[in-house]
Amino acid sequence: MAAGSPTYGSRKRSDAPTSRPRRFVNVGQMLARVFVGYKRISFMEKRKGDAGAAWAAPIREKHHRWSAEMFYKTALKNQGLLIKTGQLLGTRPDVLPEAYVDVLSHLHDEVPPEPFEVVKAHIERELKRPIEEVFAEFERTPVASASLAQVHRAVLHDGRVCAVKVQYPGIENIVDIDLDNLTFFIGVLNRLDRSMDYRFVAAEMRQTIPKELDFINEGHNAERVAKDFAHVDDVVVPDIYWEYSSRRVLTMEFIDGVKITDSEALERMGIEKSDVAKILVHCFAEMIVRNGFFHADPHPGNLMVLPGPKLVLLDFGQAKDLGPEFRETLIRFTKTLLSGDMVAMGEAFRDLGFRTKKDDAQGYEQLGDAYIGKVARRMADTGEGYAKMDQFEESYEEATTLLKKNPLTAMPPELLMVGRVFGLLNGLSMSLDSQTNLMVAFAKLADEMEAERLQAGSNGNGANANGVHANGASGNGASKETRRLLEA
Ligand SMILES: Nc1ncnc2c1ncn2[C@@H]1O[C@H](COP(=O)(O)OP(=O)(O)O)[C@@H](O)[C@H]1O
Ligand SMILES: [Mg+2]
Repeated sequence: MAAGSPTYGSRKRSDAPTSRPRRFVNVGQMLARVFVGYKRISFMEKRKGDAGAAWAAPIREKHHRWSAEMFYKTALKNQGLLIKTGQLLGTRPDVLPEAYVDVLSHLHDEVPPEPFEVVKAHIERELKRPIEEVFAEFERTPVASASLAQVHRAVLHDGRVCAVKVQYPGIENIVDIDLDNLTFFIGVLNRLDRSMDYRFVAAEMRQTIPKELDFINEGHNAERVAKDFAHVDDVVVPDIYWEYSSRRVLTMEFIDGVKITDSEALERMGIEKSDVAKILVHCFAEMIVRNGFFHADPHPGNLMVLPGPKLVLLDFGQAKDLGPEFRETLIRFTKTLLSGDMVAMGEAFRDLGFRTKKDDAQGYEQLGDAYIGKVARRMADTGEGYAKMDQFEESYEEATTLLKKNPLTAMPPELLMVGRVFGLLNGLSMSLDSQTNLMVAFAKLADEMEAERLQAGSNGNGANANGVHANGASGNGASKETRRLLEA
């Protein structure tokens, strides 16, 4: 752990409370103290009149750090979904003060692990044989520990080096309680804020999170993405070793990469951060636009870099299928954002699945513009590959005002995951000084796919969604562009 970073001290996994009210109170108290602190600063700032802003700035800064540390400590105490939330926040330097990112990024892969004895017993129970029978070597100290599992480096008897991902025993119960509390919390939020119905968030999480606890599902997801990228050199997915895996233990190829946000290591390897960003953006464009099956959790703990550069995708616990119709609408919407055709943008925004109370055309144009239209135009103007905090603040304020007059009655559940990926990628793009605009990458890839389809039609071949990957030599898509990076 880096100097000056918070430590988890003597805290152990087994200290996590397993009673629902206790878990709820821990989170509630933390949020209340953070919230009251911010309110107090704003109140004093107003009272001090002109001198207020200068007075408040350093105090607010201090409160950011204090709050981030409170969140961190509570996450370590409670574990479960609070760690997941912290991981998400720790990836967003584009929307959160630096202190939050500094402190919460430690939740990506540095959470207190289970002791080796517990891990060993768990593996033996899961794989139904002594650990020595499976592994020639097994490192007692994990290489990483995250929200739901810890990962150990080991060597199989045939010499293959592997990563063994071991689910924390009892985590299912903790996650279950957290989902109940989350549902309750969202019910309260719904009563406080009537401009939107948030229940779909709980419903979506109830569907996706338990799937994350099924490592067989995760292994299949990894293999599906590996197959989609089989002919692309600069995207790597670890092989799954099924013979040594179960629902709670996943054994796979060990990949000795560097964390995507480790700037110093990338520099030592002679890798430009913006080149990594380019591969990252094209990789997610390929998954979302072309393949319709995507890794839905691109936080820095789940992304590594190998010489080349090559991008390593880890942790397929959250992956999502998008139907062709939704994809087509998403592409259409993206293109209207870039072309600035407001009428078409409003229509596409509605077609995505948004519904407002008034259900009027102008309402969708205004809301679409507030949510993302203005941000998109600003990104196109500056040529930067990401949007910055002040742009999100403006967009948030504008959307809130609009929603007060005309509340949302429906939101597309697919967009929760896609939106999250956009958010995480925007944060990472900022950390990586990206010059690759995700929306432009989407639109370009869609055009290339259309051209391929037309060409395939005129050649008398059937359209093949995986054309670029299936036929790298004549491929002309974004993945080839990422390959060009290798040749440069
Ligand atoms: N195949 C692998 N090779 C090397 N390190 C890995 C591998 N898989 C996971 N890790 C390390 O373990 C950490 C946690 O693994 P991950 O699958 O992300 O678990 P979780 O679902 O708990 O987040 C990762 O952040 C990474 O540092
Ligand atoms: Mg992870």
